[in-house]
Amino acid sequence: MEAIVAVYSDWGIGSDGTQPVVLKADRAHFREVTAGAAVIVGRKTMEDFPGGRPLKGRHNIVVTRQALEIEGAEVVHSTEEALAAAARQARCLVIGGASVYRQFFPYLDCVHITKIDLAPASDSFFPDLDTLDGWVCAEQEEWQEEDGLRYCFCTYRKNI
Ligand SMILES: NC(=O)c1ccc[n+]([C@@H]2O[C@H](COP(=O)([O-])OP(=O)(O)OC[C@H]3O[C@@H](n4cnc5c(N)ncnc54)[C@H](OP(=O)(O)O)[C@@H]3O)[C@@H](O)[C@H]2O)c1
Repeated sequence: MEAIVAVYSDWGIGSDGTQPVVLKADRAHFREVTAGAAVIVGRKTMEDFPGGRPLKGRHNIVVTRQALEIEGAEVVHSTEEALAAAARQARCLVIGGASVYRQFFPYLDCVHITKIDLAPASDSFFPDLDTLDGWVCAEQEEWQEEDGLRYCFCTYRKNI
């Protein structure tokens, strides 16, 4: 299974339930990589989306322990249920947040990472795949700049 995440230079991914720095180019990249696919998303991250709604143009699998009905989403209540729902889809990406990345990490074999060359204070982190055994950076695009901020798109793969 794949995941997509934007990380700061300390592999921080967010603070107080949101991403302190967001790049337009990263948003566009996210839309391109996830278009037409299924996504697994935690209830808190979904609430941080525009309007607090599921993403359009993707099959949203929302993980929650609550008895919720969410228009435009398939609601699941455990990791196992999410994995079963993902197995019914042609392609599925884990899109966060922190607790969801953590729980689904063992099932990942490919992670699309946007590296952002800045380290605002984060309270959530993604595993540092540059130092974690078993992962390699398979592709890395050129570093680019948006409003003076450097960023780079990378693809990491589990080295099996
Ligand atoms: N940098 C990035 O690319 C990126 C992407 C996404 C998110 N983020 C960041 O991640 C942070 C949010 O992460 P988070 O950990 O607080 O929230 P989260 O993972 O988005 O959502 C947590 C919620 O998901 C549900 N959940 C999680 N595991 C479950 C399980 N096994 N079974 C049933 N429900 C489960 C629970 O919902 P209920 O409470 O409803 O039961 C839980 O409270 C924010 O800072 C956000 O900005 C960063």
